[in-house]
Amino acid sequence: MIVENARFFYDGKTVVEKDILLDKRIKKIGIFDGGSEERFDAKGMFVFPGLVDPHVHLREPGAEHKEDFESGGRAAIAGGITTVIDMPNNPQPTTTIKKLKEKIKLAKKSLARVYFHFGATKNNFSEAKKAEKFEEVKGLKVYMGKTTGSLLVDEEEAILKHLKNFKKTVVFHAEDEKTIEAMEREKMKRWPAGIVGIAKACALGKIARGKIHIAHATSYEEVMLAKMFGATVETAPHYLFLDESAMKKWGGVNPPLRERADAEKLWKAMSKIDCIATDHAPHTKKEKKEGAKGYPGLETSLPLMLTAYNKGLTTLDELEEKMAENPARIFELKGIGRIKEGFVGDLTIVDLNEEWEVNGENLNTKAEWSPFEGMKLRGRVKAVIKEGRLVYQDGNFLA
Ligand code: DOR
Ligand code: ZN
Repeated sequence: MIVENARFFYDGKTVVEKDILLDKRIKKIGIFDGGSEERFDAKGMFVFPGLVDPHVHLREPGAEHKEDFESGGRAAIAGGITTVIDMPNNPQPTTTIKKLKEKIKLAKKSLARVYFHFGATKNNFSEAKKAEKFEEVKGLKVYMGKTTGSLLVDEEEAILKHLKNFKKTVVFHAEDEKTIEAMEREKMKRWPAGIVGIAKACALGKIARGKIHIAHATSYEEVMLAKMFGATVETAPHYLFLDESAMKKWGGVNPPLRERADAEKLWKAMSKIDCIATDHAPHTKKEKKEGAKGYPGLETSLPLMLTAYNKGLTTLDELEEKMAENPARIFELKGIGRIKEGFVGDLTIVDLNEEWEVNGENLNTKAEWSPFEGMKLRGRVKAVIKEGRLVYQDGNFLA
């Protein structure tokens, strides 16, 4: 297939307008006339490498009523995300090799490429060591505080042991459980648990010389703290675009949304943030009313960030870096995250100017609702090519 008249960052650097010849891999970049190849005209659009989301909850197995690899994979593709890393907090968590193998098999039906974070428990060190050898496993997830599911590792010794044991990236849900509980007893806001959690994770990471990544930082201060220690850090669009008032309407999320001023200040940390991840955490509307924490986000993340670009809050190269290159580098996804000869043949083609309004009912996630409901966005995913095949165009799946 040839994508003609594509405007994109060549090798992540300068914007060029060229044709891209690709199949499973990007074969050649240049100007190609003639030939019998299937063609897609990208004139007037902008082309990103297929985006990478290092933090999603696709819920299978065990909570398929919230999402499964089929619906979640479609949601990712519709959001311009061709590669995701799935979290281990299923009802029966991904903390053994048996569970991991089961999940790897189930994920084959996803339209998006799926990798996995293995789950840490207080004592599954030998399983984690075995999991590290799997090509499909890209990280170990440590939950320092309680959230959806039963995973929790709130003891320093166990965290330290995992950090010394597991040599790929260790991802932290860095909310300190004891601080969460203390704040709840005092009926105070929970955000100090994030500061304590990040400080603890980073300090232990330094001692163990491990590679650590802080999930869903919610504030400027959290980002700076993580970066001060040399950790990598992600945030999610809900911390940038929403504030605590959204939790009254859509229910909560862990970590909770912050005050309006915090959300605004978080934009000032953009140059330090390594990844924009969705933390796609679908729940049914009924479960949300009953207190389930988390928001679906796969289909709104890139359009929200393009809207921010259109408002001058970020740049296209920042977006490519934080939504493709950096997550691919941090989690060692080789040959993913750039438009370059030899890289995987995934492209996300967007209209930078198309205006549309978020309507949860039109989304592919089983959640069928969005905390961004009714928001008017500018920037839309028009087509997605995965390994040289057009899989999505104008709201329709072709594969
Ligand atoms: O809000 C959240 N939802 N935070 C988490 O840490 C987990 C996630 C989920 O799996 O529902
Ligand atoms: Zn999460």
